[in-house]
Amino acid sequence: MKSPKTHLFFTQKLLHWNRSSNDRAMPWKFEKDPYKIWLSEIILQQTRVEQGTSYYNEFVKKYPTIRLLAKAPESEVFKLWEGLGYYSRCRNLLATAQQITQERKGQFPDQYADILQLKGIGPYTAAAIASFAYNLPYAVVDGNVMRVLSRFFGIQTPIDSAEGKKQFAVLADQLLPKDQPALYNQAIMDFGATVCKPQSPHCSRCPLRAQCHAFQQNKVDHFPVKEKRLVKKNRYFFYLIASYKDQYYVRQRLQKDIWQHLYEFILFEEPKLMQPDDFIHLGKLQQWLGKKAKMVHASSLQKQTLTHQTIAGHFIHFQLHAPLQSNEYTPINLRQLSQLAFPKFIAQYMAANKHLL
Ligand code: ADE
Repeated sequence: MKSPKTHLFFTQKLLHWNRSSNDRAMPWKFEKDPYKIWLSEIILQQTRVEQGTSYYNEFVKKYPTIRLLAKAPESEVFKLWEGLGYYSRCRNLLATAQQITQERKGQFPDQYADILQLKGIGPYTAAAIASFAYNLPYAVVDGNVMRVLSRFFGIQTPIDSAEGKKQFAVLADQLLPKDQPALYNQAIMDFGATVCKPQSPHCSRCPLRAQCHAFQQNKVDHFPVKEKRLVKKNRYFFYLIASYKDQYYVRQRLQKDIWQHLYEFILFEEPKLMQPDDFIHLGKLQQWLGKKAKMVHASSLQKQTLTHQTIAGHFIHFQLHAPLQSNEYTPINLRQLSQLAFPKFIAQYMAANKHLL
């Protein structure tokens, strides 16, 4: 346990850094509207600021109030979310907007405990909204904050353990200056993102280094400690892009799996990676294609890395000479296709290969 003097040093140096050197500009910074803060925090949960900013701006432009978001059709909101991943965030966002509109006349709750009750909002997001919108004294504890605290205080408890979560929450609360929670919370997040970064932190210009445990021990890259090593599973997807006249066959993914509720072409998941030719020779496509179907293109290898899985595969384009008989896949035209939300793996491929569609 470090002394209160160390705590004071940490908070004061951080706030001084924020006044003198923090030039990080983001559209939600100093925002007071809880709806917009909530939106930004949900977008940023699993997304980097550089990627999330344009999505935030688009959402605010299209749905400037929570009532307007609540009224939007799910497919439209999903389309705007396309490419961000983790679609449960988007579903919860819409469900919560509808709940606040119906049950609270569109008024966002202004107490921490009530904010925490909302779907898709955990302690981190509740603290961010409570502090930024209402200046309530709740400390944010996310990956950024735990990294900064674990390095400075030399905390070895894994950040992904229940004990670690508790320990960091207690410490973060002790450090929070109760008279300026919004300023401090934004400062520590910005500091973690720009100075005390995960890789190659800028220790040479860090105002905390004189008392930073990790820096003094020359062990900055030993922190934070994690319990579990993430093992990624490999999956191999072969997509048949089958067209008949100007119609393409797609379905919505409804299984409890990645990309739930998003759309896709005709999928064959295989236990191993193959060249498109070898896949075609497995004979799995015959039942889908008439005798006169013609292959028009097979893509190079496409890849996408998700948090727990790596997806690799090919897209194979066929022109059909008769409509496909299928209960599973529905024919739609290009205009309809452009209005549906696809996983990034597919959307990215389509965007780069417009001439093939
Ligand atoms: N990451 C999550 N929330 C953030 C915020 N408010 N500012 C900067 N980075 C963030």
